[in-house]
Amino acid sequence: MKKALLSILRDKNTSRLHFRQAADQLASLIGAEAALDLQEKEYSLETPLGKARGYRIEENIILVPVLRSGLVLLHGFLKYFSDAKIGILGLKRDEKTAKANLYYKNIPDLKKTDHIFLLDPMIATGGTIKDSIKILKKEKIQEKNIHIFGIIASEEGIRSIKKEYPHVKIDVVGLDPKLNQAKYIVPGLGDFGDRYFGTI
Ligand code: URA
Repeated sequence: MKKALLSILRDKNTSRLHFRQAADQLASLIGAEAALDLQEKEYSLETPLGKARGYRIEENIILVPVLRSGLVLLHGFLKYFSDAKIGILGLKRDEKTAKANLYYKNIPDLKKTDHIFLLDPMIATGGTIKDSIKILKKEKIQEKNIHIFGIIASEEGIRSIKKEYPHVKIDVVGLDPKLNQAKYIVPGLGDFGDRYFGTI
């Protein structure tokens, strides 16, 4: 199902309505997989009729979408992490240099043991993600507790992130071979935010 949804997103003839529907559905599936992957720890509880074995998630998950496309993934993750704290990072890449500028940062107080789900659908050069990781590490977050979720990444982007931050986890639906001169992922899907938000 994920590959079918990704194909709808890639197709240049997909309307805004169908792009949005497919992106929202894919975001829910990615969020569900992240939830299914979490360890559940045993504890004992009492039902109205007696003792029972219960399970709970011990990790404290903080959702950090990177504006603006990360908001699309946030919707999907909130279905399963409904009470998670949310930190927002606003990083906009300069279309000339493809470097990201931080224009907004609003992150809750973080503890060293917190787990961050960093949400960004398109990982091109990896620059935005690397800047985000740097910010999170400054807030005392451990690299191994940072999990990046995206829709498409370039091989170069993944290599670049892993080179600098070998312990972060990265999950994407599609991995593409190339970046063009403007640092867009090829074949990719074009500009995710423009297609989703309708700013083309
Ligand atoms: N952001 C996008 O939306 N698309 C790309 O190909 C790269 C970055």
